[in-house]
Amino acid sequence: MYHTTRQQIKTYDIHPTSIKQIQKGHPWITVDKFSENFHPKERFIVASNRKRPFALLLHDPTHKFVRARVWATDGNFQKQMKSFKNDLAKRIRVAINKRAKAPYKKERNHYYLIFAESDQIPGVNVHFLNGEILIQFYMDFWNQYQDYFIQTLLKSINENFNLDLTYENIWIQKRSLAKEPAKCLDPNASFKHITINEFGVDYKVTLGKFYDHGIYTDMASIRKKMEKQLKASESLLNLYSYTGAFSLYALQLGLKKVTSVDLSETYLNWLEENINLNTVLEKDNHESKMTSTLEALNELKDKKEKYDFIISDPPSSSSDGNKRSNALQDYKETLPLMEQVLSEKGQILAFINTHKCSMRKFEDKLKRIIESKKLNLKIVNKYYLSEDCPYKKGFPEGSYLKGLLLKRND
Ligand SMILES: C[S@@+](CC[C@H](N)C(=O)[O-])C[C@H]1O[C@@H](n2cnc3c(N)ncnc32)[C@H](O)[C@@H]1O
Repeated sequence: MYHTTRQQIKTYDIHPTSIKQIQKGHPWITVDKFSENFHPKERFIVASNRKRPFALLLHDPTHKFVRARVWATDGNFQKQMKSFKNDLAKRIRVAINKRAKAPYKKERNHYYLIFAESDQIPGVNVHFLNGEILIQFYMDFWNQYQDYFIQTLLKSINENFNLDLTYENIWIQKRSLAKEPAKCLDPNASFKHITINEFGVDYKVTLGKFYDHGIYTDMASIRKKMEKQLKASESLLNLYSYTGAFSLYALQLGLKKVTSVDLSETYLNWLEENINLNTVLEKDNHESKMTSTLEALNELKDKKEKYDFIISDPPSSSSDGNKRSNALQDYKETLPLMEQVLSEKGQILAFINTHKCSMRKFEDKLKRIIESKKLNLKIVNKYYLSEDCPYKKGFPEGSYLKGLLLKRND
């Protein structure tokens, strides 16, 4: 239902739970019997609380799940609708300026320039990938402002980073559509291979070919946090290794035995290419295993192999070709095996990569496994998204990545 206030603003009722959630900092309105009444032609929705304007929302009538996202919760909403482009430009400048001054920029040339809701620019992520700009739109709302967005972003990047980037460096990915690769604004460039550098290691990144481009930037800050632990280790077992970012970092830090496990031949070949890009790395210290994590752990246990550091970063749900499984459930089988291949002073870094599982739930689950399987392990530290991709309080969907560090009881 909608009302018109004395100031002639059309306002919509929203679900009482949505009101409470927005008050706690949650920036999404999901599809429900209230949001289904938003007129499909409205770009902006003024949500009301007891018939008073309460929040200004960006409307996404075609999104299956998130119907609108919060743009503002105070000020004059009518004015803010009129000044939307100017306000957007200000938010873009603030986000870019923050990254231009950030210390991590000295250690890696890939980072988020905009991390959606955390930068108050809902439904858009922007990656800096060594001079290429990847813009990921998660809501169709932005189609109406795409040209303005790109123009403002490019200007702001060139000014703040002292660069001379052009439209040929811009890649657009509509993440609200089917799993499609990014497209370059230069119609002659269908895809591009580039090299990015993280903590002194080079990685191949491919734009325009696959849905994901070859490195998870959101993990970079946690990789850095592991420097001390990795340096103190002789060996690393990298489970669900993908293209090997943790493996190469460990090799660069001087580890003598690094084993990467992944089901995908494509990603393990990519990992091999990454190693070949870095001639200084001790290639002979690395081994890839193209198999499931479960099989690899069983094999290593049978061979009585031991590792000082084990990383487990499973996809939220996966299939080993036989059965589909979910990351949290899988720990019931994989954690006891990890303990068996862990050296006496070893540590395990276990991740969960979905907003559907909170840190509390993840911790409880691992503690229950430890207890029920009588494992000699305890949780010693927790890790969240940080640096260029901070998480926002009250917004669990934005805090999808959680890590727990475990070691043996003394
Ligand atoms: C989230 S990615 C890991 C990212 C990696 N930790 C990084 O930071 O670059 C998950 C990887 O798990 C692999 N995978 C999925 N199911 C698997 C399984 N059962 N055993 C081993 N690898 C699996 C996928 O091929 C994918 O490369």
